[in-house]
Amino acid sequence: MKKVEAIVRPSKVKLIQAGLKKANIPCFTVIPVKGSGLQKSYSEKYRGTELSMVLQTRVMIICVISDENLDKCVDVILENASDGQVGDGKIFIYDVQDAIRISTKVRGGAAIK
Ligand SMILES: Nc1ncnc2c1ncn2[C@@H]1O[C@H](COP(=O)(O)OP(=O)(O)OP(=O)(O)O)[C@@H](O)[C@H]1O
Ligand SMILES: [Mg+2]
Repeated sequence: MKKVEAIVRPSKVKLIQAGLKKANIPCFTVIPVKGSGLQKSYSEKYRGTELSMVLQTRVMIICVISDENLDKCVDVILENASDGQVGDGKIFIYDVQDAIRISTKVRGGAAIK
């Protein structure tokens, strides 16, 4: 199992959601986040606050999926998350040790099917 964490523009969430549904990846979590990427934006002062310290508003989409669904999941995000500009976001991929569906107590791959 893999965990895909995508940090994307809030305006792209609906498109990604529709794409995941179409790709038969129905389970995911969405969290509003704030953060900062690699490239520096402004460094001027605005009313005493350094603008490079302003955090970007983004949304984190978390999908835990089978290994076989990984490429599909990443493709859906890449196809739907981009404005083709800096600030489009990032995708992080992790190994997942286990999953448990609380209602049935089923563990492992079967818990996310
Ligand atoms: N290495 C990282 N670790 C954790 N969060 C990150 C990392 N890089 C980016 N983020 C998150 O993703 C958001 C969007 O980042 P952003 O797309 O601006 O990345 P970037 O590194 O500046 O690349 P780009 O040149 O495409 O803008 C950031 O505001 C931050 O929340
Ligand atoms: Mg950036």
